[in-house]
Amino acid sequence: MSIVKGINNHWYFTPDFKESYITAQEIDLNVFKEVRLPHTNVELPYNYFDDKSFQRISCYKKILNIPKEYKGKTIYIDFEGVMAYAEVYLNGIKLGEHKGGYTPFTIDLSGAVKFGKDNILTVVVDSTEREDIPPFGGVIDYLTFGGIYREVHLRITENINIENVFVKTFDILQEEKRIEIDLSLIKKDNKNDVIQAICVLRDKEKEIGNVSKEFSEDFTTISMDHLQDIQLWDINHPYLYELEVKILKNDKEFDSYTTRIGFREAFFKSDGFYLNGKKIKLMGLNRHQSYPYVGYAMPKRAQQKDADILKYELGLNIVRTSHYPQSRHFLDRCDEIGLLVFEEIPGWQHIGDAIWQEQVLEDVKGMILRDCNHPSIILWGVRINESQDNHDLYVKTNALARKLDPTRQTGGVRFLVHSELLEDVYTINDFVHDGGYRKYLAKNIKNFATYDQPMKEIDGEKVILREPKMVTGLDHYVPYLVTEYNGHMYPTKRYDQEERAMEHALRHARVQNASHLNEHISGAIGWCAFDYNTHADFGSGDKICYHGVMDMFRIPKFAAYAYKSQKDVKEEVVLEPVTYWSRGERSIGGVIPLVIFTNCDYIDFYYGEEYKGRFYPDKEKFAGLPHPPVIVDELTGYWGMKWEDARFIGYVEEKEVIHKKYTRNPIPTELEVAADDTILCAGDMDVTRVVVKALDQYGNIMPFLTDGIYVEVTGNGELIGPKYLSLIGGSIAFWVRTTGEKGNIHIKVCSERFKEKQIEISVE
Ligand code: GAL
Repeated sequence: MSIVKGINNHWYFTPDFKESYITAQEIDLNVFKEVRLPHTNVELPYNYFDDKSFQRISCYKKILNIPKEYKGKTIYIDFEGVMAYAEVYLNGIKLGEHKGGYTPFTIDLSGAVKFGKDNILTVVVDSTEREDIPPFGGVIDYLTFGGIYREVHLRITENINIENVFVKTFDILQEEKRIEIDLSLIKKDNKNDVIQAICVLRDKEKEIGNVSKEFSEDFTTISMDHLQDIQLWDINHPYLYELEVKILKNDKEFDSYTTRIGFREAFFKSDGFYLNGKKIKLMGLNRHQSYPYVGYAMPKRAQQKDADILKYELGLNIVRTSHYPQSRHFLDRCDEIGLLVFEEIPGWQHIGDAIWQEQVLEDVKGMILRDCNHPSIILWGVRINESQDNHDLYVKTNALARKLDPTRQTGGVRFLVHSELLEDVYTINDFVHDGGYRKYLAKNIKNFATYDQPMKEIDGEKVILREPKMVTGLDHYVPYLVTEYNGHMYPTKRYDQEERAMEHALRHARVQNASHLNEHISGAIGWCAFDYNTHADFGSGDKICYHGVMDMFRIPKFAAYAYKSQKDVKEEVVLEPVTYWSRGERSIGGVIPLVIFTNCDYIDFYYGEEYKGRFYPDKEKFAGLPHPPVIVDELTGYWGMKWEDARFIGYVEEKEVIHKKYTRNPIPTELEVAADDTILCAGDMDVTRVVVKALDQYGNIMPFLTDGIYVEVTGNGELIGPKYLSLIGGSIAFWVRTTGEKGNIHIKVCSERFKEKQIEISVE
């Protein structure tokens, strides 16, 4: 039997590295400080920091005491993610290394363990942007941060153990379904031993199928046939089963492996994307896995929350894990809630030398072996995002992906038109929609250049997405997916001027509309979900790309409602007018045209006491969208007149279902402080986000309020990031992490203008 134990607490860390740390017999507590995982090598400010500050070699240590009874067993340590290169030593002996910050790796410690004694584990972590490791070597528009930023496990097992299990599902649309289980073993000695594998399929606790096989190789495939009454996994009904594989030798259990699986058929065709035989228009956003202050180092709950935000707050059906394999917890949650995933290998535009390219193949392998059992993943991205065509490399990445996983199609994100199609799906970043700005620049400046030159000829005001055949250069349609749009074409801060915020939102709506109108486009995944920290070469100069439909704290911009309002009204009624409601915020004054993102049938609008009328979704301009926005184009008075309150009432099937009010004279009334979760878990690090909003007397966020707040966290928790914060556009959030102990976390938020707020979180 194997024992698997998370070892995420009581690590020791120093941000620097000296050779002498490797062989030191003790952990010098003057140099090393105790930390917990996930850990970032440097806590960064929210913005305006040196983008080199985390690019350093640092050192982690941990004492491992492995009892004598385990002598003769195999002792593994499993790392889920270390940025970007790690060397692992036990008692001064080097036992392994790993290149690549996004794929897991396992080191066999057995040879150097002193059983029953303290062993010193040392991990040297190189978080510099090493040219031999993708995505590095060129520039990249995001930060990769540093440290042991995902969890670590200790695994004590027999000398024959399970390396990986891949469960493939077949005959999904038939009455009787079938699975094939690819089982790979590690046999350290006794290579010819006969092993028995027992596979059990469970629906919740109930066994619904089993099969057993004897074999002596280190790889075998086991089928389980005639599976009946299986519920399919889909976006509205993400039904999961559990498959357990046990291996036995002479009736003694050696190892076991449990994975969740879903029965679903996902297929891109030239006329769209099909899930279980049903066509679905894909609507999604790209996600970077980064957070303020701690970069990538966020534990399970925060990862899960991001998936929930994308699915439930934004109403998306797909996410692209730009530009690398993301946290297992994020993907697990996507499986649980029915959020489809396009996952891709690490990389950004640059392709390095032969060694670098070998690493690309390692990354394809690492990604697929880790994630092949997630039903949510429907496509592997096997190109370096936006790189040039490279026939030899991409023939290899595609062949490898197809060999490792014949059940999924491949994609590979490009910005190139007429690019060589080696993948199953032509995945393209289509930044053509520019609101007419390219045309303007081409006319007004001499050396206008963009990296996507062919777009110069296109009118990006009128053309919202290009015709697939024009992009592929082929005379027939092929499976086709738009994987980015907007982003740098129109960076927008949450508190930007109303017209800009509105245009930002409309661009997202227009592209989705165009995608919905073209049956040869499987869907469109916008750039991007959340603002993110970036290098000096990108972003707004403060090390932030304001490309999200939400800010870095996951607080929505108006553009978020272009998506959210597409939700089925039965799921949630949405009514979000794009306005800060004032006479003088927009150029020339007024609030017209007033865009209202809603899934209601129509709305009534009152200006003060005056009924301005009934307004309907604009089905002409947005014929493709499930729920076009309502656009109010009636004037609300002229400059110099008294300003009034506003009231919007939404109706579904003739019934009033929602209303929203705005005051002519907003007064700071309440500082709302709300935690996403009020019960956290003791033990390994747990976190929750706390959102702070300055509200007026009608409960609306005050978009330009920038007051300072002071946050105090006491009890069994710690604040992540600074104690002194200022509201950004009337709101901000922070994360609080547990210390590991059970008990309560007390959070106090003070400010000059508002009454002090206190909340409690319990850690159980
Ligand atoms: C793309 C790139 C993304 C991001 C985006 C900004 O070219 O793939 O990573 O930089 O532009 O719009």
